[in-house]
Amino acid sequence: MEWQIGNVKIPNRVVVAPMAGVTNSAFRVICKKFGAGYVVCEMISDRGIMYRNKKTLSMMNVDPVEHPMGIQIFGGSKETLVQAAQFVDTKTDADVIDINMGCPVNKVVNTDAGARWLLDPDKVYEMVSYVVDAVSKPVTVKMRIGWDSDHVYAVKNALAAERAGASAIAMHGRTRKQFYSGYADWNVLKEVADALTIPFMGNGDVKSPEDAKRMLDEVGCNAVMIGRAVLGNPWMLKRTVHYLETGELLPEATPEQKISIAKEHLHDLIELKGDYVGVREFRGQAAYYVKGIPHSARTKAALMEATEEAEMDRLFDELLVKVQDYQRERQAKN
Ligand SMILES: Cc1cc2nc3c(=O)[nH]c(=O)nc-3n(C[C@H](O)[C@H](O)[C@H](O)COP(=O)(O)O)c2cc1C
Repeated sequence: MEWQIGNVKIPNRVVVAPMAGVTNSAFRVICKKFGAGYVVCEMISDRGIMYRNKKTLSMMNVDPVEHPMGIQIFGGSKETLVQAAQFVDTKTDADVIDINMGCPVNKVVNTDAGARWLLDPDKVYEMVSYVVDAVSKPVTVKMRIGWDSDHVYAVKNALAAERAGASAIAMHGRTRKQFYSGYADWNVLKEVADALTIPFMGNGDVKSPEDAKRMLDEVGCNAVMIGRAVLGNPWMLKRTVHYLETGELLPEATPEQKISIAKEHLHDLIELKGDYVGVREFRGQAAYYVKGIPHSARTKAALMEATEEAEMDRLFDELLVKVQDYQRERQAKN
């Protein structure tokens, strides 16, 4: 079901959350192949943009097949945030500029950025309006529901961003203090969805296609934003899109499919970042791909030490042989 962020059309209601160290262009392209309607780049520092840091600039490359996509920026001061937004507006192929107001990590919060603004709806209004006034692409804001359980200003903050001209809001149903503990509070997300007139992406604890449907129904959001469940499992996006469209649950990815996607992901990451960085960055992702595959513990440990694509590929292929032997043995027993 199509919806829009400003003038940007989004073909379905399944969105991939921004994830630092994960949602680079290699992974976003894979997510698109598996049907994601919209993807968001890992957060980009306003200072990195200001100083034209080479690594930061390379993080903003957009592959033509990714559209529609958003680039997320974070920062602490009005000046640097506006400059960063203008850079994304005029110098990148992003369709949407997303402001991070949810990041809980100290590195970000201590610079008066990320989730810190959630304590002050006026600050939210001010920052968003400065950015909106300075750019022509649609601006979105990604928030958490509040700073801690005593300061859940979710509705006030979302409405402040809307008044300031945001084209859509994404909200994770946890407070900053929670980090990732406890549960995402979908009741608060529902209050926000009811209050907003602009599109709303609900986020937090969607682990399956059924969760996605439940969130759309219970929260009343325009789209579900999925983070951790996609790690090592972009296949999940295809199952979710299909389930929302037809009510039919496709099977989970088989070990063969998981390993084939993992190898493709590794290869694309190396194309993007070169052998040295690509292989090392993939180690974390490799662990997610092999999770749940029987007899994968030793492969996982070896993947963490691997230094070349060919070596990682060989480890994946060996794991596949092991899994197939195991499956044959089980079938023989039954
Ligand atoms: C590894 C990782 C990196 C993340 N990086 C970002 C980020 O750069 N910007 C952001 O707004 N949120 C970031 N998040 C939060 C996610 O976008 C999302 O809000 C959160 O994981 C909750 O959704 P989930 O329950 O579907 O995982 C990150 C989460 C994870 C697990």
